[in-house]
Amino acid sequence: MRVLVTRRIPAPALAILRDAGLDVDLAESGLDAAALRERVHGKDAMVCLLTDRIDASVYDAAGRSLKVVANVAVGYDNIDVPAARERGVIVTNTPDVLTGCVAEFTWALILAITRRLSEGERLIRGGGWKGWALDFMLGSELSGKRLGIVGAGRIGRAVAEKASAFGMQAVFSSRAPGSMPLDELLATSDVVSLHVPLRPETRHLIDRKALARMKRTAFLINTSRGAVVDEDAIVWALQERLIAGAALDVFEREPQVHPGLLTLDHVLVVPHLGSATRETRTAMAELAVRNVIAVLNGGPALTPVA
Ligand code: DGY
Repeated sequence: MRVLVTRRIPAPALAILRDAGLDVDLAESGLDAAALRERVHGKDAMVCLLTDRIDASVYDAAGRSLKVVANVAVGYDNIDVPAARERGVIVTNTPDVLTGCVAEFTWALILAITRRLSEGERLIRGGGWKGWALDFMLGSELSGKRLGIVGAGRIGRAVAEKASAFGMQAVFSSRAPGSMPLDELLATSDVVSLHVPLRPETRHLIDRKALARMKRTAFLINTSRGAVVDEDAIVWALQERLIAGAALDVFEREPQVHPGLLTLDHVLVVPHLGSATRETRTAMAELAVRNVIAVLNGGPALTPVA
């Protein structure tokens, strides 16, 4: 059986595939759309990344041999799942193994933006620090404040679990009955953190209207998907000082970042690092290849997408 791996993945995961007797076609440095379609032809399985767009043209290029597409990410907005279903192709993702890692990272962003860490670092590196002063670069404390979590999935809940360590009260807005309406969460939270998948109904969930509802002293954190936030709207809200700041790990058109964000001090931008630890990236890749093996062995996938 032949497996296309669309870009280099951690060595232990590749070893699992090879030890299972699979013929691995590794595209070390990634594939553009045309090369992906060419290379997938005749494969039984594909291990892909969130930077690969997997649509009907890819399934058709693969042909009838393709049985499983294993995304090395929990988010799978890069994959046309209905088109896969129509062709009997199973799609899997990597839930659970990155939950703690992304939750830790979310707290790193919350602390960094509320205490102005990147701003301070830029100042020192730019030679602009003139010395300590009582009223210099004051931030905001977390204790006694409200953390509004949008999305009550695994990662959102893991972020909430750590809130009490900082003296924060966590509230949720989600599709679950009884959760707080989004408008109320936005209007009453001191930190709003986004943990929803990108779907048609969550695209630009945070738009001008949503941002205008937030407290002027509040911060927005996004570790989910860039397009959950309307990037023009967040630039506008930050320029107008409608919110106190934003920490963004994800962007609408990665690796491009809205130029407006780069001119503002009260925004922290990082290059999609939420799950970027050696431990977690290895665990994600291992789960993806185990999904491939499970399906090719005729069993159910370990973590098929819903
Ligand atoms: C995911 O798994 O969806 C993350 O965005 C990867 O960092």
